[in-house]
Amino acid sequence: MTVDRRSALVLVGTAGLAGAALPVRGAEGEENVTANEDLMREHGVLRRILIIYREVAPNIERAGATMDAQAVNAMAKLFRTFGEQYHEKQLEEQFVFPAVRKSGGPLAHLTEILVAQHNRGREITDFVIGATKSGKIGTGDAASLARSMLEFARMYEAHAAREDTQIFPAFKKALPKAQFNELSERFEEIERKQFGGDGFDMALDQVAKAEATLHLSDLAQFTAPAPPK
Ligand SMILES: [Fe+2]
Ligand SMILES: [Fe+2]
Repeated sequence: MTVDRRSALVLVGTAGLAGAALPVRGAEGEENVTANEDLMREHGVLRRILIIYREVAPNIERAGATMDAQAVNAMAKLFRTFGEQYHEKQLEEQFVFPAVRKSGGPLAHLTEILVAQHNRGREITDFVIGATKSGKIGTGDAASLARSMLEFARMYEAHAAREDTQIFPAFKKALPKAQFNELSERFEEIERKQFGGDGFDMALDQVAKAEATLHLSDLAQFTAPAPPK
């Protein structure tokens, strides 16, 4: 039996939030949604936006003002609401980084760099939204827009990879199990409040639409050519 994550949460909700009641979540066949899984699949959505950025950047440089920039604008706005205002600000900066910092060690320094990258990312997102807001690329913006999108993708790939492999595991380790489980619940509540529903599903829908518009839906197109023999 497959139970979607909302149903799994209802099960948890009826059992209460105490850590002792939570194993029901991990029962066979049920989706076990932890805070870290949530954060990591949010990265998945954000990575798909980065892939779009990387794929369209050369077209922007080539076509400039004639390029239809509507889908890029929609993705930059989604990165703002889903990535920056929700994932970064409300989850990482509010809960994840403070817990990691409190636990001490060399990762505290890493969180400072990660926050600086959030801030730089927001500047770049401002620029991308502004340069594409008319649905066309502003004259003179094409080269700098393409470059900024590639630089943003480069930064965020490294950023998310460090979070996935160092920060999120440290976050889980820093908290007692019951508290970590409660935060998993809290993250879901924040998501519902912010988006009026399942923000992950909504964001994924929007990414899929942009991929369709930009002819990037077919995963097979990303299969690398065979190496030289
Ligand atoms: Fe981050
Ligand atoms: Fe992140």
